Amino acid sequence: MSTKIIETIDLNKTYVMGAEKVEALKTITLDVYSNEYVALMGPSGSGKSTLMNLIGCLDTPTRGDYILNGVNVSSMSDGELAEVRNKEIGFVFQTFNLLPRISSLDNVALPLVYTGWSKKKREDRAMEVLEIVGLGDRVHHKPNELSGGQRQRVAIARALVNNPAIILADEPTGNLDTKTSIEIMRIFENINANGNTIILVTHEPDISEHAHRIVRLRDGLVETDKKNLNIIRADQSTYGFDLPEGANNEDMAAAKDYVGDITEDDLI
Ligand SMILES: Nc1ncnc2c1ncn2[C@@H]1O[C@H](COP(=O)(O)OP(=O)(O)OP(=O)(O)O)[C@@H](O)[C@H]1O
Ligand SMILES: [Mg+2]
Repeated sequence: MSTKIIETIDLNKTYVMGAEKVEALKTITLDVYSNEYVALMGPSGSGKSTLMNLIGCLDTPTRGDYILNGVNVSSMSDGELAEVRNKEIGFVFQTFNLLPRISSLDNVALPLVYTGWSKKKREDRAMEVLEIVGLGDRVHHKPNELSGGQRQRVAIARALVNNPAIILADEPTGNLDTKTSIEIMRIFENINANGNTIILVTHEPDISEHAHRIVRLRDGLVETDKKNLNIIRADQSTYGFDLPEGANNEDMAAAKDYVGDITEDDLI
């Protein structure tokens, strides 16, 4: 049975800029279970990246609690946050954020410096994940010697290298063409099928259709939170219950253990 891996309680993030205050997140209360695949959507400025940065321990909330894997991280110091982040979370950004002067292999191996592993062991692991994303033949290329899709695959390999429970991706296909976006989405699906929890920000309805659940933000609040019934049907093992052929929404509601109370309105 899935366990609760992310729990935010009345999370608030207020940026203070001189006399002006921007409440990027008002009160966000959200649970995410292990092995879920959540698409985070909403208009520009609704707070998606701010929420991802909090969930990813890149920033701390102004108010509220964030419980990651059972540990309250809301009031941790920067050093403690860095440790949690390195262990539990892999980040993928729209702009790839690779170091330009070093090879794919070195970019991917970089997060492993904290492990205390030998160089050889770090490189072997980096090689392994580069192969997972289909880049085993581009390990010595530098970012500017790669296509956009290949750069993003290097970034995904870097996010995976520590084997984190959670992968956070903020518009990972935002700079890619449709065909390449589909390839990248396939990689995220495989990662999810291997047991990682994924939260992915996207503006593209096509892309969000791959997710189990779509959470929409508006003005720093959760506007809607819906389960994707098509995916749930196709991927019942994740949810730990059997959904019989022809099951209706009441049957779904019976599967409370994972999904909690759901009504017709919760489904898309
Ligand atoms: N560092 C900051 N300082 C001040 N205000 C900020 C800061 N970061 C974000 N904001 C404000 O907080 C709000 C939410 O921003 P955020 O980046 O989370 O939006 P978003 O949903 O990711 O938008 P987009 O789809 O354009 O990426 C915006 O109004 C933004 O101007
Ligand atoms: Mg954003």
